[in-house]
Amino acid sequence: MRHAIFSFCNQKGGVGKTTSTINMATLLGMKGYKVLVIDMDSQANSTSGLGEEKPALEFTAYQLFVDNSDPSQLIKKTVQKNVDLIASCADLSGAELDLVDQDRREFILKGELEKLKNQYDFIFIDCPPSLGLITINCLTASDYIIIPLQCEYYALEGLGQLLNTFQLVKQNLNQELEVGGVLMTMADLRTNLTQQVIEEVRNYFKDKVFGTIIPRAVKISEAPSFGQPAVVYDTHNRGTIAYQQVTKEFLNRFGQFDQNAPQEKVMQETTSQPQGTNQEGEV
Ligand SMILES: Nc1ncnc2c1ncn2[C@@H]1O[C@H](COP(=O)(O)OP(=O)(O)O)[C@@H](O)[C@H]1O
Ligand SMILES: [Mg+2]
Repeated sequence: MRHAIFSFCNQKGGVGKTTSTINMATLLGMKGYKVLVIDMDSQANSTSGLGEEKPALEFTAYQLFVDNSDPSQLIKKTVQKNVDLIASCADLSGAELDLVDQDRREFILKGELEKLKNQYDFIFIDCPPSLGLITINCLTASDYIIIPLQCEYYALEGLGQLLNTFQLVKQNLNQELEVGGVLMTMADLRTNLTQQVIEEVRNYFKDKVFGTIIPRAVKISEAPSFGQPAVVYDTHNRGTIAYQQVTKEFLNRFGQFDQNAPQEKVMQETTSQPQGTNQEGEV
């Protein structure tokens, strides 16, 4: 798959959408892939997490919805190698209302991203914590949904709704949409409960679940206040290592089909195997 678009999507807040988006994007950028992160959450955590200021409204993802502006004008280079950003701002939540009256309102983002897709190996959309029209736009524009799930008792709560939305989009708006992966995050692997939740999710999603489980790690929660992805903020902690492992898995799924990738990118990724569950506890 070349030039693929991924929505990191779960209507629950605090499940690791933003953390996974920016850390995996940063690691892919380090490996030489060109990545665009689109921050679709009005809380703008991907924007600040990549070290960017919230820009003026006219340079944010909001513009993707409101007029026929040139989307390439919205792109900012970040300090992370090969990672570009379309930033968010608090006003983005207003786009939901602006969309209601538009023609083909579910397809607006898709139309805009068609113009950018060929410039990037991967486009990662950090979705808002809702299943409203912005999220529908994200899923309609995407090739894959990545579902981050927090490893806790209620992990599967609300999942029915999310999968319903996925099915509705697939049936009516975007036949190509597939589940690209389910990523278990914030695991405390010392508890039986976590192991049970992981097992339940694996029974349900089978091999869609990434083998790597992201552990709860203090360094991951500290990184945003330094405006850095955790994988840059601290290169050795277990959280970083887990994100490195899951990014290898991601490339095993989606990277090696990139016929146009520079040769060393393809070779590196096809020789590395996905790692199993990180069995260790909190850092
Ligand atoms: N593996 C982890 N270990 C510790 N804290 C984490 C981890 N993943 C995310 N966090 C923290 O949990 C909070 C919610 O994560 P976030 O990625 O922002 O979720 P979402 O985007 O789904 O709302 C953030 O403060 C983040 O720094
Ligand atoms: Mg978020």
